[in-house]
Parts: sequence; structure tokens; C-alpha cells
Amino acid sequence: MTDAAAPPPSARSARPAPGVALALVQRRAAEVVLAVLEGRNLDHALASADLAGFDGAARAALSDLSYSTLRFLGEARGVVRLFAHQRPAPLVEAILWVALTQLGHGKTATHVVVSQAVAAVESVHRAAKGFANAVLRNYLRAPDDARERAAEHDDEARWNHPAWWIQRLRAEQPDWWEAILRGGNGHGPMTLRINRRRATREQLLRAFEAKKIEAEALSEYTLVVKRPRPVDRLPGFRDGAFSVQDAGAQLAAPLLGVADGMRVLDACAAPGGKSAHLLELAACELLALDIDAERCRRIDDNLRRLGLAATVRCADAAAPASWWDGVAFDRILLDAPCTGSGVVRRHPDGKWLKRESDIEQLAREQARLIDALWPLLARGGRMLYSTCSVFKAENSEQIASALARHGDMRRLRITLPGDPASSAGQLLPGGNRKTHHHDGYFYALLEKVAP
Ligand SMILES: C[S@@+](CC[C@H](N)C(=O)[O-])C[C@H]1O[C@@H](n2cnc3c(N)ncnc32)[C@H](O)[C@@H]1O
Repeated sequence: MTDAAAPPPSARSARPAPGVALALVQRRAAEVVLAVLEGRNLDHALASADLAGFDGAARAALSDLSYSTLRFLGEARGVVRLFAHQRPAPLVEAILWVALTQLGHGKTATHVVVSQAVAAVESVHRAAKGFANAVLRNYLRAPDDARERAAEHDDEARWNHPAWWIQRLRAEQPDWWEAILRGGNGHGPMTLRINRRRATREQLLRAFEAKKIEAEALSEYTLVVKRPRPVDRLPGFRDGAFSVQDAGAQLAAPLLGVADGMRVLDACAAPGGKSAHLLELAACELLALDIDAERCRRIDDNLRRLGLAATVRCADAAAPASWWDGVAFDRILLDAPCTGSGVVRRHPDGKWLKRESDIEQLAREQARLIDALWPLLARGGRMLYSTCSVFKAENSEQIASALARHGDMRRLRITLPGDPASSAGQLLPGGNRKTHHHDGYFYALLEKVAP
């Protein structure tokens, strides 16, 4: 979804960093996880972690451990509950979650994880050392059995998603809910969109091969890097030859059908992944808006790196009086703010940060944006409404009520690869069992017709 993003971290590569004790990394990861459970997003929690003495390897290990603990938090919480007669102090419990995730899903040697986690617990609460040791050793006696028992009456422990989320998906997607939840617990591949104005697939594959970087072409403009790594270490990145963008997100710009000279609005544009793609496809006159000034700067940076140009403005898209010049747009992309329920494999904090009540509030905001932007579209023009969500209130139900409110709105048929409900526009993460190459997105292409 984001441009210039770091590759998706993986618990498997988390190793004790030379120079920094694993115990300290585990403790900091536990603090990060607690900060997320208190409402901070993972990037902010990591950015404000106490990193005194941390080198690059220790930072990477901290990031890996924090991501993976959030990915498997339901299971880790269930296992602690199974073996603890009383609820431990929050930081002690969180260190156990981190260690259990390493034991269940990592590669670090078992005895190292246990001894370091016990040391980490001792550093925060000396008296809890024996308790921590007992929980981890009990788990290690029969890990599969412990996980199964923890999951027996606890959906969160089984599926690693909040109970309300599981119930909702089960009701809305009776055929797909398990695949969606499993997909959400996986790792997103590092997918690149080639900037066709700067490079070809063959040129990039040759440049990667020269650096012994394995990549697979999904299409003429989409590559998957086999072993994710920091994006700026890939040849061509600084020269704007490609962007990091999920294969599902790469469907948006082509669906909108832009052509040279069109007036195009990207209403919720930051950090600019889809804006850039629109400009790579056609020499259009693009206005890229976002309400967040900091994120607007990222649009500028990304466009500059890719050698593309647009007018970037920080504004509320739902208040056009403050930014619109009165000339209708031929195309509008409304990539609306949403729960992000389709991209949790890349943002595992999202599952624990969102409340069920957020869905209703976001659906109201999405409707406000649709209603404010629809009058700005020229007759015969098209709006692509998109979210990275799998919940119907933000997607099919949102569009059904928009169609009921606007007599001049018509939904066009689109075909999405791996869309199990054919033209329904819902791309499910893990819905395409063969590839798992995309996250969960929703697309509705709307045309303005005579009322
Ligand atoms: C899903 S993200 C957009 C991702 C972007 N289209 C891309 O492909 O890189 C949604 C964006 O909507 C912005 N946003 C939320 N409410 C907004 C509003 N009322 N007006 C403009 N932007 C808004 C957020 O700041 C956020 O950057």
C-alpha cells in the first residue's frame, strides 16, 4: 500500500543482535506491544521506543519481534492464561507473549529465548522470574497441545484476531472467513510496481540478477522480491524505477481508465502510491489531496523520486469550497480512510487497535466523502471508490446506499483477478489460495449518467 515502505518484517529473521542482549530487545518489544494495546500505532510505538545502545541489527530485531508478537497475540495471550493462575503484571505478561511468539514462530534457539526472557522478566520484576520460567517450560513440554488447549474455547487464541472481528467475518463471508483470517496472519510479499516511464521488467530483472536478488514477475509491471529487504538496497529504487505497492493496490489506477489531458482528482492521496501510478499511466492533470500535512510531504517526495508531477494540496476532500476551482473532474479516485481490515498481514497492530464501533464511524466519513465529491465529477466521468477493508459496511453496503442517494450514479462492471464474488469488487486476502499475492481491497467503479 505504501510507497518506499520497508519490507514486511518477519519473526523468523529476528535474531539476538550482537552487542545488545536479546533480553533487552524482548523487553523493548513487550513495551511496544503494550503501547499498541493502549492505542498507539505500531510505527509510532517503535519510533518512541527507548533505543539507547541499539545498533541497526538490534533495531531490526525489535521491529521483527514487535510485528510478530502482534501477529500472534491471540495465541500468546491464550497460552499465558492457560498456565498462569493469576494475571501477571502487564510488562511481565507482555515479555511472555514475545517469548512465546519466538518459541512458536521464530528461529532463535529455544534455550536462548527462555533464558533471555527470564532475565528480561527479572529486570522488571525480580519476584516473577520463577513464574516466567515455569510458564515457558510448561509450554515447551507440549507446545502443540498447549496451543490447542488455549484455542479450545477461545476464538482469539485460535485465529489471532479480536473476537468481534471473527464473528463479523464469519457472518459476512460464510465461505471465506477462515481463509481471510489465515491470510491476515501471514506475511505480505514485497511487491514492486515498475515505473513504466523509467524502466522495463527486463531491465529491472537484469539489474536484480546482477546483485543476486531473486524476483518473480507477476505481470509486465509487477515483480515480487523473493527475500524482502530494505527497499533502498534494491537497484533502481533511488532512480525511481519502481515503487513498493501491493498487487491488489496496483489494480486501482488501471481501473479508473485515465487518459492524457484528463483532469483527475486523487482525493485521499497520501503517501501517493496510487497518484504516482495514475501519472505513470497517462499525462493527466492530477490534483492530489490529503488532509494530513505530514503525509502530503510524502506524496511530494515519492513523486519527485519517480520523476512525476502533480498539484499536491493539504485539505479536507469533503469540504471542496476550500480547494475546488469549479471545473469538473473527468476522473476521481476516492481511496477512502477505512479500517484497514484487508491489510492486517502488513499492519498487524490494526487488528488490535480497531474497535467494532470504528466501522460505523468510518462508514459515515466515507459516505460524507462520496456525497461531497460526487457533484465535482463531469457527466460521463468516473469515480473509483476503494478501501483496503473486507467489511461490507465500508464496501458493498456503502456503495448500495450511495447508489440509492444519487440518481445519476451507475455502478460499472469490473473484473478483478481472484475476486471470488466475480464482479462484486471484493478482493479477499488469501481468497486466491494459489498465490496469496495480494491484500484485501474493495473497488467500485461509478459512472455519472443523466439522472
Ligand atoms: C488509504 S489512505 C490513502 C492511500 C493512498 N491513496 C495511496 O495509494 O498511497 C487514506 C488517506 O486518506 C486521508 N484522509 C482521511 N480523511 C480525509 C479527508 N477528509 N480528506 C482528505 N484526505 C483524507 C488520510 O490522511 C490517508 O492518507
